[in-house]
Order: sequence, then C-alpha cells, then structure tokens
Amino acid sequence: MPQKITAGNWKMNGTQASLSEIQAIADAAADIHSLAILCPPAHLLHRAASLPGPLAIGGQNCHHAPSGAFTGDISAAQLADCGASYVILGHSERREAYGESDSLVRDKAQAALNSGLTPIICLGESQDQRAEGRAIAVVLAQLTGSLPDDVQVIIAYEPIWAIGTGLVPSVAEITEVHNALRAQLLTTFGAAGQNISILYGGSVKPSNAKEIFAIPNVNGALVGGASLKAEDFLPIMRSLAES
Ligand code: 13P
Repeated sequence: MPQKITAGNWKMNGTQASLSEIQAIADAAADIHSLAILCPPAHLLHRAASLPGPLAIGGQNCHHAPSGAFTGDISAAQLADCGASYVILGHSERREAYGESDSLVRDKAQAALNSGLTPIICLGESQDQRAEGRAIAVVLAQLTGSLPDDVQVIIAYEPIWAIGTGLVPSVAEITEVHNALRAQLLTTFGAAGQNISILYGGSVKPSNAKEIFAIPNVNGALVGGASLKAEDFLPIMRSLAES
C-alpha cells in the first residue's frame, strides 16, 4: 500500500518568525495518523527539523553533485545535514525558471538517494499541452525521463495551470493522469510500483481536499499556499487521514 502523505511546499516564503507556525503543524502531526512533510526554505530547515514532533522535513531543491564549486547551491548531503529526509525535485517553477530537464531531475534524484533522502519528483503539463490533448503523454515522458532506477521515490502530479490559480482539474482528469502514472510505475518497477505514493498538487485547499483524496491512486497532496498556515494545512492533513 502506498503511504498517505500531506507535503507542504513553502517555496520562497517564511522567516524565523514562521517557526511558531511550523511548530503548530508539528504539534498537530502527532495526532494525525498519516505522514506530514514540510518543505520550508533552506535557511529554516535546521530549526524546523529540530522542533519536537513527528513532522518530517524536506528541501525544495538540491544540486546533482555531492560537493564542489557551485556558488549558491545546496547538496543533498547538506540538506540531510540540516535534518531533512525528503527533497522536492523538478518542480515546474524550477523546470521553467531554471530550464531543469528530465535528465537533470533524474541526476538530482539519484544524488538525493545517495544521501539518504527520498525525492519527491514533480511532473505536470501546461495549459497548452492539455488543450492539445497531450497531458498524459507529457506527464508520462517526464516520469520516465526523471525517474531514477530506485523505487524509493514519491511522485507529485502538479498541472502547471492549477498551481496558485485556484483552478483544479476535474475528478476525471486527475483520475486519468494518476491511473496512467500508476500503470507506468508498475511497468517500470513491477509490483513494487504499487507502493509508490502519487500526490496531487495544484490549488489544494481544505474545501476540495476530501474530494481529491477520494480519487483512486491519489495518495496525498503537495500543497503550496495552503501549507503556509496551520489553520489551512491541518484540515487537509485530517482529510487525508480520514480518506
Ligand atoms: P498551490 O497549492 O499554491 O497551488 O501550489 C502547489 C505547488 O506548487 C506545490 O508544490
């Protein structure tokens, strides 16, 4: 069975003053029986990972090399050194703004695994690609190109047009993509592919979480805006635990 996971992506938001919000999420995670992962910006990783409670901590990106002359970058080992156990890779904001390719994402995922981190590999089509009827083909190509040769991964389907827009795909659209991803994971990894968690991301809110979590092959969510406040993130965590 895939693990149920609520993951929060804080992106470039938050300062030391946000640690009380992270503590509130960590406190609630103790009572909610599904895995909660928070991915704050890098400067908060160590403090967040040191807070009491079962909240797991993740980075938002890492370099594919173990160390070296890469000014401004952070390695997977350095994320682990801060107390992170996960890392988001291949987010569409990085694929778009920094031209990250599938093969680079795969190299980063392998680097993460080498340092004991579980990569959360993001995939998703643009609005134009969906309009052209290519959503499934695009997402499957990203999956096969970005996936390391290791079953210890989490997949996040995040249609680009749903991120931060309030737009959410229909239940039928999410179902179609998640079923296709599961089928591809089974082809790649055999029966072990059944245990990989596939998260949905893109405008997940307390108001729509229950409906999204009822979809087969949706094993949780990668949440952006609604993960910044405990009062929004906690109901989503609860909806998943109850699904
Ligand atoms: P929103 O939940 O703000 O749409 O962001 C989703 C996302 O990009 C998470 O990685």
